[in-house]
Amino acid sequence: MSSSTNVIFQVQPGGSLNGEIRVPGDKSMSHRSIMLGSLAEGVTHVTGFLNAEDAISTLEAFRAMGVKIEGPVNGEVTIHGVGKHGLKAPDKPLYLGNSGTSMRLLSGLLAGQAFDTVLTGDKSLESRPMKRVTVPLAQMGAEIETQPNGTAPLHIKGKAGKLQGMHYDMPIASAQVKSCLLLAGMYAEGETSVTEPAPTRDHTERMLAGFGYPVTRDGATAKISSEGKLTATNIDVPSDISSAAFFLVGASIAPNSDVTLKHVGINPTRTGVIDILRLMGANIEVLNEREVGGEPVADLRVRSAPLKGINIPEHLVPLAIDEFPVLFVAASCAEGQTVLTGAEELRVKESDRIQVMADGLQILGIDAQPTKDGMVINGGQLGSGEVDSHGDHRIAMSFSIAGLRANGPITINDCANVNTSFKEFPALATQLGLNLGTM
Ligand code: S3P
Repeated sequence: MSSSTNVIFQVQPGGSLNGEIRVPGDKSMSHRSIMLGSLAEGVTHVTGFLNAEDAISTLEAFRAMGVKIEGPVNGEVTIHGVGKHGLKAPDKPLYLGNSGTSMRLLSGLLAGQAFDTVLTGDKSLESRPMKRVTVPLAQMGAEIETQPNGTAPLHIKGKAGKLQGMHYDMPIASAQVKSCLLLAGMYAEGETSVTEPAPTRDHTERMLAGFGYPVTRDGATAKISSEGKLTATNIDVPSDISSAAFFLVGASIAPNSDVTLKHVGINPTRTGVIDILRLMGANIEVLNEREVGGEPVADLRVRSAPLKGINIPEHLVPLAIDEFPVLFVAASCAEGQTVLTGAEELRVKESDRIQVMADGLQILGIDAQPTKDGMVINGGQLGSGEVDSHGDHRIAMSFSIAGLRANGPITINDCANVNTSFKEFPALATQLGLNLGTM
């Protein structure tokens, strides 16, 4: 699959999912392992690293800033850390592809360097809002020029020694904004603290602690200062629950399914998809719970179950933020009505996930009504049709899963970006029993 061509997925209807698989490594943790490993003193060894375009964008950015990084080979990456002040000016703009996490976290990390940088991305990334990071960074003394509407390319003037710590009350629940400011705080005078309006993924805080960098947590507030250093460590990245989610839904909706997903990260800031599916009646067992490198991990066994529509509790929204495309498929197969509210953030992801999913589900015959901040879906019979993923990896995979309960084939256009997070999806889905072809 290449990002420049129109990769088409075609799913034949029906079937069930059975077997045991390990989905690839967590994307959020893979990004952070490269960032913190690069700034550490010593050699960091990463296993379970996600070899997909988004994480590779981060890896290549740090190579371009002088960090020697070996791999990934079979999920193994070796990072020869250069220390907190050891990055070098890249000789050209850093191209970050489709990856919002790379761009937002790097903007914070690069604001306090001794050199200037330019961050660019693909059409989707260059249309996503960046003011959510550049506005608070400017309050810390950063100088970042955006396009007039607040989008990338970002021209970052390195302000080494000139950033000031501050307190920031985040208006939106965003782990990317929180992480961006904490990374900037490593280079700012005094203390930087960030309060989140609702819990968001805390991999940055956990991994900083794993590298021995002091970061404290007091209720909804995380605090950091420039007093600290990162000491190289070994990181075992668990499987990405956001990739596992396609099979949690697939095995729930397809009759006679029984799937075990091995070694999945179950950090409580990421498990909203399990909670929501269980509220809908799903049969998901969390087995062999253990802790690996400061992150909780388990095997997830999921078997078919009749789902019912629910009102999705708003506090679960940030904890399942990337899983709504496939949860909309679950809702389409549920009996009764599912209502999502409080999820306006979905409109500024890799695509407008509310509009794009509603459009596709309607084409497939489902009564799916988009709202300002969510969707109302009445469960029904998924039909056959041709839908468009709008270059959004998770939309492409979600409509593939819909095929399990459709009554005719589904053609999905613009699927090349599945490579940004889960290039093994077609092979693993086929291995479990999905009848998926790619063209
Ligand atoms: C991510 C945070 C989330 C999520 C994204 C990854 C991260 O974004 O949607 O896929 O790694 O910090 P927001 O912070 O914009 O919610």
